Amino acid sequence: MTSISLSATATGKADAVVVGVYATETAKGVKGVALAPGAEAVDAAYGGSLAKALDLIGAAGKDGELTRVPAQGDVKAPLIVAVGLGKKPGKGEQLNTDTLRKSAAAAARSLAGKAKAVFALPAEDAAQAGSVAEGVLLGAYAYQGLKAPKKDAKGAVGEVVLATPGAKQAAVKKAVEHADTVATAVNLARDLINTPPSHLYPQTFAERAQAEVKAAGVPALTIEVLDEKALTKGGYGGIMGIGKGSAKPPRLVRVAYRHPKAKKHLALVGKGITFDTGGISLKPANAMDTMKSDMSGAAAVFAATLAAAKQEVPVNITTYLSLAENMPGGGAVKVSDVVTMYGGKTVEIMNTDAEGRVVMADALARASEDQPDLLLDVATLTGAQVLALDRLAAVMGNDDELRTRIVETAKAAGEEMWPMPLPEYLRETIDTQSADISNMGQRMGGMLVAGLFLREFVGEGIKWAHLDIAGPSFNEKAPFGDTPKGGTGAAVRTLVRLAEDLGSGK
Ligand code: BES
Ligand code: MN
Ligand code: ZN
Repeated sequence: MTSISLSATATGKADAVVVGVYATETAKGVKGVALAPGAEAVDAAYGGSLAKALDLIGAAGKDGELTRVPAQGDVKAPLIVAVGLGKKPGKGEQLNTDTLRKSAAAAARSLAGKAKAVFALPAEDAAQAGSVAEGVLLGAYAYQGLKAPKKDAKGAVGEVVLATPGAKQAAVKKAVEHADTVATAVNLARDLINTPPSHLYPQTFAERAQAEVKAAGVPALTIEVLDEKALTKGGYGGIMGIGKGSAKPPRLVRVAYRHPKAKKHLALVGKGITFDTGGISLKPANAMDTMKSDMSGAAAVFAATLAAAKQEVPVNITTYLSLAENMPGGGAVKVSDVVTMYGGKTVEIMNTDAEGRVVMADALARASEDQPDLLLDVATLTGAQVLALDRLAAVMGNDDELRTRIVETAKAAGEEMWPMPLPEYLRETIDTQSADISNMGQRMGGMLVAGLFLREFVGEGIKWAHLDIAGPSFNEKAPFGDTPKGGTGAAVRTLVRLAEDLGSGK
């Protein structure tokens, strides 16, 4: 775990010091780099020639580009890491804090194995200092897995000193603390997602959630776990139906956070399929490679709830984690089986691999009973979402204003989401002879069909948004910006921000 402290100076003892460089271009088209604010002291130790030296060895200042040079003069760190911050902002222009956060993340990632680093990036106000801190903590994250301990293992950079002229200002300290809370939540979601399904299954996920709630020590935060007996008794036929094919029974976790001054009630529902084999409608082998991440929605809503509660945001939040393992065991739900959902609607299961919408439906119906002002669900719901939007999340729902709000909240929180429709004409494709509704509709527009299915289980008059995060939840490729390999913690930052906005009356 990386820790962050603040200092007004950038020349303290460390293993490396990070500075920022902008890409510049003269009127005649000559390209070069310029040092960003924060680098002054390091440049002085270099006799004012640091930009020139970096230029000479080919630094271009591109976003996240890393250039390493040995230190000189009275910098008490042997190594200078220059990270690109993109085009130099023009007169009166502000540095983009998204770029700052992502570049800080790239630099932090490159410092794995180092004990201590000074970050002398632009941190001239609270927003910039917060962005650097968030980037450092998000970028330093790397899943360590379950490996035998090795002497040369490179853990995350241990200690980061954030150099900022505002080191003593309350607003700067607050921004850095906030960044810590948010990044801790994102990294918790990442850890849950990356944990193998041998170790994280419905029961252990629920137990971990209980332990986290206990450790948070917030009296207004409570947790209740429904096991298979309680689920059967309660009529949760969707979660039970999908969970039947596994030796590991399902769980429904309900987390409630209450604030005496709350004016709004936010309900969150997360898809928690701890492994998705497809069930009897078995997936092809390689399509299962990443399916431990099919609980990313549950991880996101849980981590965000915890973060909001720890900050005592003045809002009420009720969060449901719909946890099951989708396996093709002897007791598994079969194609053409009909299950009765929480609330009494019947569903014909025409494809057991469309399991997410079935477990979500029970939880949406249950969450609706709490009569929230806003109901949001987060799910790795469809392959169609990945094909359509890749790294971006999709936002659907029954209220255009709320959908726009989520997209804007995501942007403000440093995430990318895009609005998607729920076209009425597709609704009839989930009609069926044998039950109220089928879990399988037309293939074309599959992401939208899944959204239309969920809509059926949202209580009358409740404003609802559905976030399909199948694409952004898991990164199979190399890390980039503030995104690591593996579980990404997608949607956590957006949810925390939404809770905060609601708390401040927005
Ligand atoms: N968990 C998958 C969706 C998914 C696919 C998430 C790829 C992340 C990456 C979901 O349960 C699923 O299998 N959906 C099916 C639905 C279909 C059978 C209607 C799909 O999208 O193929
Ligand atoms: Mn599936
Ligand atoms: Zn799934």
